[in-house]
Amino acid sequence: MMLNEIYNAELNIFLEAIKSRYGYDFTEYARGSLKRRVRDLKAVMGVETIADLVPYVFHNEEFLPLMLEHLSVQFSEMFRDPHFYKTLRQEAIPILKTYPQINIWIAGCANGEEAYSLAILLKEEGLLDRANIYATDISVNALEKAKEGVYPIEEIDVYDANYLKAGGKTQLSDYYVSRYDFMALDPSLKESIFFSEHNLAVDGVFCEMHLVLCRNVLIYFNRKLQNRCLDLFDEALIREGFLGLGEKESINLSKQRKNYCRLSDETPFFRKKVE
Ligand SMILES: C[S@@+](CC[C@H](N)C(=O)[O-])C[C@H]1O[C@@H](n2cnc3c(N)ncnc32)[C@H](O)[C@@H]1O
Repeated sequence: MMLNEIYNAELNIFLEAIKSRYGYDFTEYARGSLKRRVRDLKAVMGVETIADLVPYVFHNEEFLPLMLEHLSVQFSEMFRDPHFYKTLRQEAIPILKTYPQINIWIAGCANGEEAYSLAILLKEEGLLDRANIYATDISVNALEKAKEGVYPIEEIDVYDANYLKAGGKTQLSDYYVSRYDFMALDPSLKESIFFSEHNLAVDGVFCEMHLVLCRNVLIYFNRKLQNRCLDLFDEALIREGFLGLGEKESINLSKQRKNYCRLSDETPFFRKKVE
């Protein structure tokens, strides 16, 4: 066997071990980025080979949250890609205002920055009281951080600038207090957010949604898993519901493309057509 064949065989065994022990399926993740993440995980665990990770999968309960954290990318920002939020404000908010209750699913919410950004936007539009924001992720560690709503203050300049570019109506400092090196978001924002575990590779739809955001998540999946997710979002969305994806993501190559119209040239924001 060539070295890369051995590497791929070990990786497959590792992924199958995770699947059989915990039911988490990483086999349909894009391989390039997954390999980089596994390399980082090996370094964190101080092991030489991927095969050395397999016993941890079976015999170390503490390995699971660490593994989930390291096999996926948790990077996020408040008001990340500000023109996305601007488009959301312009295109979706006037329609969402016509519903008595609004269900929103943020799939792959990482440490919660996106959920709090959306809560702020909804508050400014007078919609937060009638919104349920279901913010889900595969990583329990990320969800714990998300529930806290506390972020390093060093990010604040970026967040401030994003907020203003996103069409923020006041200033971001109205929504947090700074303590030492951290900013703690206004706890009232949390009242409409439900953080919970959900695995896009295996779990199903849990509620009817008016808006689904799954941004910068599909990029880590292969085509088959991307299609599974897009079908899932379609199943969850009401007729004429809205779908927001990440800047490098698209529905163009999926069968769902015929069911949606794109609302902006600048950002992948879609509306489900009436059948
Ligand atoms: C780069 S972050 C995106 C965060 C945020 N949506 C944004 O755009 O800033 C990707 C998130 O997807 C999550 N993720 C990866 N695989 C997942 C899966 N199978 N089910 C649910 N979430 C997953 C990761 O844990 C991570 O928090």
